[in-house]
Amino acid sequence: MADRPRLNHRKILVTSALPYANGSIHLGHLVEYIQTDIWVRFQKLRGNSCHYVCADDAHGTPIMLRAQNEGITPEQLIERIGVEHRADFAEFLIGFDNYHSTHSDENRELSALIYTRLRDAGHINTRTITQAYDPVKEMFLPDRFIKGECPRCGTADQYGDSCESCGATYSPTDLKNAVSAISGAKPIEKESLHYFFKLADFEPMLRKWTGAGHLQAEVSNKLGEWFTDGLREWDISRDAPYFGFEIPDAPGKFFYVWLDAPIGYMASFKNLCDRTDINFDDYWGKDSTAELYHFIGKDIIYFHALFWPAMLAGAKFRTPTAINAHGFLTVNGQKMSKSRGTFIKARTYLDNLNPEYLRYYFAAKLSASIDDLDLNLDDFQSRVNADLVGKVVNIASRCAGFISKRFHGNLSKSCTESDLYDTFVRSGEEIAGLYEKREFGQAMREIMALADKANQYIDEKKPWALAKQEGQEQAVQDSCSVGLNLFRVLMTYLKPVLPRMAEQVERFLGIDIMTWDNLAQPLCGHTINPYEPLMMRIDPKAVAAMQDASKENLAPSSTESAAAPAPGALTANPIAAEISIDDFAKIDLRIARIVKAEHVEGADKLLHLTLDIGGETRSVFAGIKSAYKPEDLQGRMTVMVANLAPRKMKFGMSEGMVLAAGPGGKDLFILNPDDGAQPGMRVK
Ligand code: MSP
Ligand code: ZN
Repeated sequence: MADRPRLNHRKILVTSALPYANGSIHLGHLVEYIQTDIWVRFQKLRGNSCHYVCADDAHGTPIMLRAQNEGITPEQLIERIGVEHRADFAEFLIGFDNYHSTHSDENRELSALIYTRLRDAGHINTRTITQAYDPVKEMFLPDRFIKGECPRCGTADQYGDSCESCGATYSPTDLKNAVSAISGAKPIEKESLHYFFKLADFEPMLRKWTGAGHLQAEVSNKLGEWFTDGLREWDISRDAPYFGFEIPDAPGKFFYVWLDAPIGYMASFKNLCDRTDINFDDYWGKDSTAELYHFIGKDIIYFHALFWPAMLAGAKFRTPTAINAHGFLTVNGQKMSKSRGTFIKARTYLDNLNPEYLRYYFAAKLSASIDDLDLNLDDFQSRVNADLVGKVVNIASRCAGFISKRFHGNLSKSCTESDLYDTFVRSGEEIAGLYEKREFGQAMREIMALADKANQYIDEKKPWALAKQEGQEQAVQDSCSVGLNLFRVLMTYLKPVLPRMAEQVERFLGIDIMTWDNLAQPLCGHTINPYEPLMMRIDPKAVAAMQDASKENLAPSSTESAAAPAPGALTANPIAAEISIDDFAKIDLRIARIVKAEHVEGADKLLHLTLDIGGETRSVFAGIKSAYKPEDLQGRMTVMVANLAPRKMKFGMSEGMVLAAGPGGKDLFILNPDDGAQPGMRVK
């Protein structure tokens, strides 16, 4: 029985990192949510009590600015993104027990509680610091919102603290001709009182904790370096305007987003407890015997392995059982990139492909290490087709037809291959051990080796040949019954990875919920339902369509990376951030004659324009297909940006940009200079 109490029944609380509420979920994020979800589903299948909570990380400057750019309140923005995130996760079958927001009452209360406990225990310091300030926007500027020329090589437009061109690292105050990326104004230096968490107070505790098996070995080693560098005070306050929680005893000062973000784990769980009979203190109290795991990416280890345990210890809560860090996703061997069509959003994937393909592929690639993993789109197709369709589903499809057509869906009364069946069942402990250790890739290899064995068995028995021989009825029924029983064992092992297909299999086999525990007995004298295809091969066209759709929106968007929003990106009606006259003067606008306008094969939005700017021709791809027929454009004059750096687009190089205005779609007007304008004329 599925819910029989077990002797080794564990109480487990699991979290994934809270995604920022200013951008869409992409396949990189999904490495983490899929990894965590598989582990949680596995624990539940083993009969353990396991709760999985998460939330949107809703605070901080990028979210505040993006809302401003869109002309809405931050609350409206995080509400909208929250709905989007939940839908994406649900369709990828991520089975959160609760999904909350850091902008919640529970989080406000818990953050205040933890802060006051730390303060009362003497772990908070205040001191005045000098920072860059935007006098126009009237706000302090985080490093990544300051740009200027690299102090070493002079390259313009470098953000924050490092140069993309020569790789130099520096402090934003070293940038030459620095400007605020928000208003374009020259930043001034301004003083302000900040609140600091005295991390060094916890050095002895952290040295002990980080060496006590709560971290992966590679992570502990990395931390060793951080201890050598010294544990500096952590700045936990930000000045208004800031979207976050005001610090209880400090009006006008707000908690830095990273202070309340991990507390969001507790807050989401608190919200769950308040709706159920789960006891919050059993999990977070100082003497809790429950297990607590945080799954995170390797980029946020410092916050989770140093600040977070120190905050918890200082505020008299329990510390995590383990921090499980994973590596980063690359696609086709490279960092995800919009122009290559490999910056794939969860939604774009879902529009084209079955989520269980990706769940399996990531499972096959994941281990307990922090190594990066690659989604190679060719390998993805061949792996999923070969393993899931070619090996696993194949077993069922080869056996089910005979059982349905010849035996009214009845399996044999006794299992004829108990040794083979027992081998499959005995492998369950090893596979469980691999899931437990997060060695999912190895677990998948074990399962596929068993699938090979099952197929070999069917190949040897040849039910299709037996079916043509007299007096072999029993042999046909027996071999197909064995095949289906082996299939049931395999699908039980795959259930954490393929929960939806496992449910389909439960219906097809007409059985209760599959768990490790009820595999000991094979299905004998049992009636199954007619077989319906469980999984199709991946359609290569769908993969291509997904990549095309990912390329479509080539204009950089503020959602490309949560870590580096493009400040001032024009997203809706509000006027974009101010630019200086010098910025404007850099744009070389020219009158251009549209010599040729053509459709672009395979592009939904683009037209290919050949422009004459007075003795020079330019090839430009313009997203104006919804508004203009090519023949209506030929011969007309327009205005173009002639000194825009050429951009490589999917269909070719684009050497400039045609100016257009309007809400888009059919109402998009290209600028139409008066008669008398000559190609090449400067527009100013
Ligand atoms: N909001 C913080 C986490 C706060 S936790 C208290 C954050 N958000 S995030 O949206 O940038 O990232 C969420 C998780 O996704 C992080 O664990 C991050 O490491 C992971 N990933 C984001 N991009 C990734 C890849 N390309 N590959 C693998 N994981 C990635 O950080
Ligand atoms: Zn440089």
